[in-house]
Amino acid sequence: PRLSQLRVQQDRLMETIHYTSRWGTGARWGERPTDTGMSRLTLSDADKEARDWFVDTTRSLGCHITVDAIGNIFAVRPGKKEGPATFVGSHLDTQPTGGRYDGVLGVQAGIEMLRVLHENEIQTEYAVGVVNWTNEEGARFPVSMMGSGVWSGFFPLEDAYNLRSVIGNQATLREELERIGYLGQTPASYESMPMAAHFELHIEQGPALEAERRKIGVVQGVQAYNWFTVEIQGKDSHTGTTPLANRSDALLLASKFILHSHRIATKHSALVTTGILTALPGSTNTIPGLVRFTLDVRSPKNETVEAVAADLKRDFATLASGQDVGDLHAGGTAGRNEFKVSWTTDSATSATVFHEDCIRCVREATSDVFGDRTKELVRDISSGAGHDSVYASRRCPTTMIFIPCRDGVSHNPAEYSTPEDCALGTQVVLNSVLRYDKL
Ligand code: GLV
Ligand code: MN
Ligand code: MN
Ligand code: MN
Repeated sequence: PRLSQLRVQQDRLMETIHYTSRWGTGARWGERPTDTGMSRLTLSDADKEARDWFVDTTRSLGCHITVDAIGNIFAVRPGKKEGPATFVGSHLDTQPTGGRYDGVLGVQAGIEMLRVLHENEIQTEYAVGVVNWTNEEGARFPVSMMGSGVWSGFFPLEDAYNLRSVIGNQATLREELERIGYLGQTPASYESMPMAAHFELHIEQGPALEAERRKIGVVQGVQAYNWFTVEIQGKDSHTGTTPLANRSDALLLASKFILHSHRIATKHSALVTTGILTALPGSTNTIPGLVRFTLDVRSPKNETVEAVAADLKRDFATLASGQDVGDLHAGGTAGRNEFKVSWTTDSATSATVFHEDCIRCVREATSDVFGDRTKELVRDISSGAGHDSVYASRRCPTTMIFIPCRDGVSHNPAEYSTPEDCALGTQVVLNSVLRYDKL
């Protein structure tokens, strides 16, 4: 059959997505169960079951399976010629209160591609593959795009192994890989698992496509982001006997820092978010002496992320030393207000520009699918969220394909894309890969 005759099957795609959602819908570690929500945390039992299903399914579609030392799973379907496969990839892990599309869709699109090739007995020129990257979300083990980061050589394997779960128990990532049977033998590296190219289908996670009634976003790149943990050491003491003026309340200072971070973000037209905050000892009648919180800093420009981080460090130090910043009161000089503030950089991802060859294949694929409505239904877009394609692109030609999602919402059980849009995106993936295969 010719390319124009190969059709993805919408019903099969959606049934598979919903079938595999059984792994990770349960409430665990205090998470909220919902009808549509997912909680498939990296290397949890649910993740293991979804991984086992991925391995069985791709194997039955004629793939060879490789699991690498960081638990990335590569399913490769041989082609006529020797050489690296063109991959479709994304992630099966979700946020603690995630949905059924972020990540999952990209993997299932790859599996639907394999099914179409299989049932039509297509032999591609080169191998094609589907990859499930470990811990894209960085929710349970707080480094995002971790598996692809290690594979690409940008994130050290040992650092990844030593990450500790911040949800539930405090197991290390290596212990959990071992426990669920996904500590692979193959070194986690591009050299051990080279790729000809990497394509990733994803929901937009933003409102643009839906607002403009477009069907596909051809992704040009991804904004830069850095993650930090700030630790404030103050002093624990009794809430009832320590006068306000005698305190070193780490949480009070943290609240000023976080408030100020919003102002710095506004000044630079950047984004800054605190997503985790821990106050210790965590007692109603003890003043918190130790606080840790995260900062996620983003902008399309690397220089802006650096400028925001520099401003934050400078102004936090000023506030911590008891001096005001603008109209923000350090807390006066009457109190003790003796603090030690330390910063750790948890990860740093520079801005990404995707590859013109891949982008061209996607453009041609959208013309295959939409014909003379392409201009109306397809636009270029850039990604606010990180994706495994960021690290894939450091090693091989890469791009992404976005479909609209309702209200631009993700990382939420309300996450939703229509079956039609999921299938259209999958069709664009299939055609893009087949076009790349023939380049
Ligand atoms: C990862 O997906 C991120 O954007 O944080
Ligand atoms: Mn994702
Ligand atoms: Mn996500
Ligand atoms: Mn992501």
